Amino acid sequence: MRKKYICGNWKMNKTSSEALEFAKEINDFDFDRVDILIAPSFVTLESLRKNLKDEIKVAGQNVSEFEDGAFTGEVSTSMLKDIGVKDVIIGHSERREKFSESDEIINAKVKKALADDLSVILCLGESLEIKEEGKEIDFVRDELLNSLDGVDDLENLTIAYEPIWAIGTGKTCSSEDAENMCREIRNVIDEKYGEISQQIRILYGGSVKPSNAGEILSKENIDGVLVGGASLKASDFIEIIKAGENL
Ligand code: 13P
Repeated sequence: MRKKYICGNWKMNKTSSEALEFAKEINDFDFDRVDILIAPSFVTLESLRKNLKDEIKVAGQNVSEFEDGAFTGEVSTSMLKDIGVKDVIIGHSERREKFSESDEIINAKVKKALADDLSVILCLGESLEIKEEGKEIDFVRDELLNSLDGVDDLENLTIAYEPIWAIGTGKTCSSEDAENMCREIRNVIDEKYGEISQQIRILYGGSVKPSNAGEILSKENIDGVLVGGASLKASDFIEIIKAGENL
């Protein structure tokens, strides 16, 4: 059985002091049936890792595809590992759209991170335009296969399906549509990689909040959620964790 995975992506929010306030609140909450991860900004990663209880993982929101060198503003896999970070989000639609990260760049990042023993949450998702043309399944399939080109071992991979039109808009994809897409993603993985498709976790992200988390998490092919806005308030994030715990 795949354990539900509740992940928070803080994007460019929270100073280190604010993150510590959050850590104090969430550390008081006991859970044992779900996995939890939080991705703060790079500057907050180390202090958050030290101040959160060990059961809660922290992740980078991005990582460079390069080893080291003249790449001003970038953060390498070894820098993350050196401060005890073992997980990273790659291919978020905001990286793809606002920072021009192509499938090729995402693919290079995924390969670099996996080769350096980081666990990867790979984000995929279509724009409103593609959805309105009815081409979302083909689009996500291509994004998945391009991002994983040359990747043989999916053991340290999680997929997050985040339709762009549902991110930060309050418009949640219906739980049926989210389930259908997550099932499609699992089928594509099954075709290419076989049995691991039953173990890999596939998350949904896009306007997840305490009021809809339970329904989304109850779906067979949705193994967790990647939460933006509602992960910023500890009480809301705890409600989402409880929805996973209570299934
Ligand atoms: P929201 O939950 O704010 O819609 O953001 C989703 C997201 O982009 C998580 O990575």
